[in-house]
Amino acid sequence: MNSSRDIERLRALSGIKWKRWDDDVIPAWVADMDFATAPAIVDALRQMVDSSDFGYNLTSFDDSIPKLWADWSERRFGWRPDPERTRVFSTTLQPIAVALSIATSPGDGVVLFTPVYAPFFGIVEKAGRELVEYKLDQTEWRIDIDALRAAITPGTRAMVLCNPHNPSGRAFDASELAAVAQIAEEFDLLVISDEIWQDFVYLGAEHIPFASLGPEAWSRSVIVTAASKSFNLGGLSCAVAHLGSPKVAKGVAELPPHLLGGINALGAHATHAAWEHGEDWLATTTQTLRANRDHLMARMAAELPEVHVATPEATYLAWLDFRDTSVAADPAKYLLESGRVGLSPGPDFGVAGAGFARVNFATSVEILDEIVDRMVTTLRNGPRT
Ligand SMILES: Cc1ncc(COP(=O)(O)O)c(C=O)c1O
Repeated sequence: MNSSRDIERLRALSGIKWKRWDDDVIPAWVADMDFATAPAIVDALRQMVDSSDFGYNLTSFDDSIPKLWADWSERRFGWRPDPERTRVFSTTLQPIAVALSIATSPGDGVVLFTPVYAPFFGIVEKAGRELVEYKLDQTEWRIDIDALRAAITPGTRAMVLCNPHNPSGRAFDASELAAVAQIAEEFDLLVISDEIWQDFVYLGAEHIPFASLGPEAWSRSVIVTAASKSFNLGGLSCAVAHLGSPKVAKGVAELPPHLLGGINALGAHATHAAWEHGEDWLATTTQTLRANRDHLMARMAAELPEVHVATPEATYLAWLDFRDTSVAADPAKYLLESGRVGLSPGPDFGVAGAGFARVNFATSVEILDEIVDRMVTTLRNGPRT
């Protein structure tokens, strides 16, 4: 692939990833991939555009999308969500905010497994809920049942899990998820599990939907996911949530009509095409991402051994630990200003992210090499001139 032509194409897109900084910066931050989406999705959207198919046609999606997700999840993860308990939402974050507002009250504690995807903090805090931080250990990013239990406060009512976990790239294993389920039962907590990264789990690990753990986990959980991460459709806004918790299911059913808005037909058709015809494309893309991950890890180990990083089991993100380097105070700022490479700053993921930065490796290997070259050169030789 011609890297400069590829970069020109990416800069011409309207998305935030390549528009955020000046043209001399290579962005590796927000979780969009630099790849075109599956041809089946492009064909479906093109057909709509070519025939101006933008009329009111939405209600059938309420049935068809939950069924397609149920088939997808059963086939890939061995868990069949109940379509009757599944609702289509606009984004993955929307049902997290909705479930918390239904199942908890202002002042209640909500556990986040930190560091974690930045918008979770706003969802908890802007709703007037109390942030209860469970800090994952900072080398293996594993969930430990005793440490989790110790983090729970008397006012805690819910946990928001991110599985697979952004930014560490962990795909939590059966024993860790069983620990979460046990603590939820002990303290009578709602578990909201964000599983938007479900499809990018690499050989040696597996995605285990939280609600698949058993009837108890099923009925005290809300599972949220989408086709958007797997198929690079972040701007098309279509997601699903499995409302296992009867309280949340009832609360959602009782919301005033139109409060949550409708479903965007483009997003719905794209989701259809993804879950009906996208699996081969996804398999190839996952192989590419795994090769990128291995390439990144090999170069980091060889050329920047002082930057520690656990090999991500999942996602296309790597969580870089700069605490043993001279740029520990603010690695993302230094690398942006001096190296012209745009990573996500660790503190965006909570106080546990100090000294870290997140890199997105869903790009061509040429661009990935440029990202690593810039990090290496800047850390070794100082600012680019
Ligand atoms: C864990 C997690 N949840 C949710 C989202 C965003 O999903 P949506 O745009 O559907 O709200 C992202 C995007 O990177 C994410 O990493």
